Amino acid sequence: MRKHLLSIDDVSADDAATLFATAAEMHDVQRRQVKKLPALRGRTVINLFFEDSTRTRSSFEIAGKWLSADTINITGKGSSASKGESLRDTVLTIAAMGVDALVMRHPASGAALQVSQWVDAAVLNAGDGTHEHPSQALLDAYTLQQRLGSLEGRHVAVVGDLTHSRVFRSNVKLLTKLGAQVTVVAPPTLMPSGVGAWSAAAGFATSYDLDEVLPKADAVMMLRVQRERMSGGYFPSAREYTVGYGLTRDRLRLLGPDVPICHPGPMNRGLEIAADAADAAQSVVLDQVSAGVAVRMAILYHLLAGEETD
Ligand code: ASP
Ligand code: CP
Repeated sequence: MRKHLLSIDDVSADDAATLFATAAEMHDVQRRQVKKLPALRGRTVINLFFEDSTRTRSSFEIAGKWLSADTINITGKGSSASKGESLRDTVLTIAAMGVDALVMRHPASGAALQVSQWVDAAVLNAGDGTHEHPSQALLDAYTLQQRLGSLEGRHVAVVGDLTHSRVFRSNVKLLTKLGAQVTVVAPPTLMPSGVGAWSAAAGFATSYDLDEVLPKADAVMMLRVQRERMSGGYFPSAREYTVGYGLTRDRLRLLGPDVPICHPGPMNRGLEIAADAADAAQSVVLDQVSAGVAVRMAILYHLLAGEETD
């Protein structure tokens, strides 16, 4: 693997296989009563989050702690960024304390790449604007492989607010790299501009018709309607969105009983996913959360454990 994890472009199919093998071992550690490995003893990992998070921030923190790294959380709201300190001054200040890795979430696309050019520490992109969320895609693919085995030739439907979704962008890159057949589904207003050229080059399909896609899916990934990133009306009403693109109780019948239902969270229950789907036996939403710790342990391990410590 490269020094940083900024995008799925930094991860080859072989890298993903290596990470998944390590994550499977970490998953075993996660099930033990004493969940501690000495691998990153003496290393310092800073979580620097300028956007809210429940899963990503806490799972990176737990992952670092279980690998014996010293982990610290800094958020935009409680830091001197709220006094007007620039991003560059903030990260140079943190880097000057001697950190080994910066796990970073920021509302601007490209922020993690920019920071990686300012500091020597490894930079892990935990979500930058609408660009990428690579550790999420890795934990999603790991979860799907645990359920389906190899993803080669498997049909994954990625459904929802694609325009604002960094999870969609990282997932399409990784799933196609792993040989999956991907169909992305959204209303025309939430289908990103330029997706036609990208899908032709990368070999994934696009559709506006969820009912047509679901019966052929081996897995379905529902994505959140990201109201906080919307400046206008992308659909007439919540009800209309649900009728066209929600995984409703009725639509569940279009899915095979063993087809995993994924959602990166947080979910808008009743909007893009009905409670019947979120809580169905075939839902893997909480498996994704649990895999998130194991996969992030694997990522931290591969980025940091091999480095020179003196
Ligand atoms: N939690 C994911 C993200 O930060 C997905 C979402 O918020 O909808 O990108
Ligand atoms: N899936 C995800 O990134 O969740 P959080 O925003 O809660 O970290």
